[in-house]
Amino acid sequence: MSLKESYQFCFKMGAAIPRHVLKDEPVLRHIAQEYDSITCENDMKPENLLDAEANRKEPERYDRSPAVTFEKIDPYMEYAKKNGIGMRGHTLVWHNQTPRWFFAKDYRNEEDAPLADRETMLARMESYIRTVMTYVQQKWPGVIYAWDVVNEAVVEEGLRESFWTGTVGQDFVLQAFRFARKYSDGSAALFYNDYDTFLPWKREAIYDLILRPLLEEGLVDGMGMQTHLTMETDLDEYEKSLRYYGALPLQVQITELDIHNTDPSEESMERLAQRYESLFDQLVKARKDKAADLTGVTFWGLQDDMSWLTAFRKERSYPLLFDGQLKPKKAYYAVLGAAEK
Ligand code: XIL
Repeated sequence: MSLKESYQFCFKMGAAIPRHVLKDEPVLRHIAQEYDSITCENDMKPENLLDAEANRKEPERYDRSPAVTFEKIDPYMEYAKKNGIGMRGHTLVWHNQTPRWFFAKDYRNEEDAPLADRETMLARMESYIRTVMTYVQQKWPGVIYAWDVVNEAVVEEGLRESFWTGTVGQDFVLQAFRFARKYSDGSAALFYNDYDTFLPWKREAIYDLILRPLLEEGLVDGMGMQTHLTMETDLDEYEKSLRYYGALPLQVQITELDIHNTDPSEESMERLAQRYESLFDQLVKARKDKAADLTGVTFWGLQDDMSWLTAFRKERSYPLLFDGQLKPKKAYYAVLGAAEK
């Protein structure tokens, strides 16, 4: 049985995929066999959807309605549609992978170009969200079932300082969700997504700064726990957090799961498998106890050689369920096993 078959009774199983696999037939068959959800690892981020050339060539024309191009995402959408696979839309509003010129007056590209004013940035945000959501709803209906409306807005000091807070201001999260709700046809749930969501201070901060105000206006449907773990992450705190978000009137999704591990020895991969098993035991139990409306689990990558962690952590990582040849590791069987208990 595959991942998606084993977990059909529980939640969707997904993976983030990079662009190059779209040309790789064996990998595409593997995806269709194992998963019922995909996320574009990078291609649905603003830096890939914003049309740099058009905006910068005609800044007056596009000042309040940025030009967007969909040529990079259409192949994913087509593949998903053809194979009956759902997609997570990742991500509409983020401080990262959004070019600086998008925030600049007249889309100017110099590093010190003055930033656009609040009214202009609100208009750009609304137009961007409307254009992207309307396009996928009309051209690829039924494919995207969840949107990460805002990604990674909370840090220890409170709301993260970024070009979004620097232009729109402290209410940019609320504004983004208002626009997303306004232009959504209801086919996709609206998520707030973040990392380290299992840390006690962070779950409180996310509730106070993000979820509570959004829930008051009925603007949010789900909490995305990225779940980039290490071999040391405290899984008891993880479970508490899962149940904390789960107690709110929200879906919960695990959106970017991986467990950083630099040692490929058999013994270490056995320990990795045990960690995955403990985590999936928790997830299944939360679902069975009705402690969280957990609707999906997405791995951040298909196989160890493709993991972003090796570049991000600057050390080779072996964090996933499949090895460089897409051969299932012990962790794969451990995850399957957790579904059968
Ligand atoms: C990462 C991608 O995996 C990399 O390829 C890219 O260079 C940087 O972004 N949190 C997120 C994801 O929300 O979008 C990030 O993806 C990983 C951390």
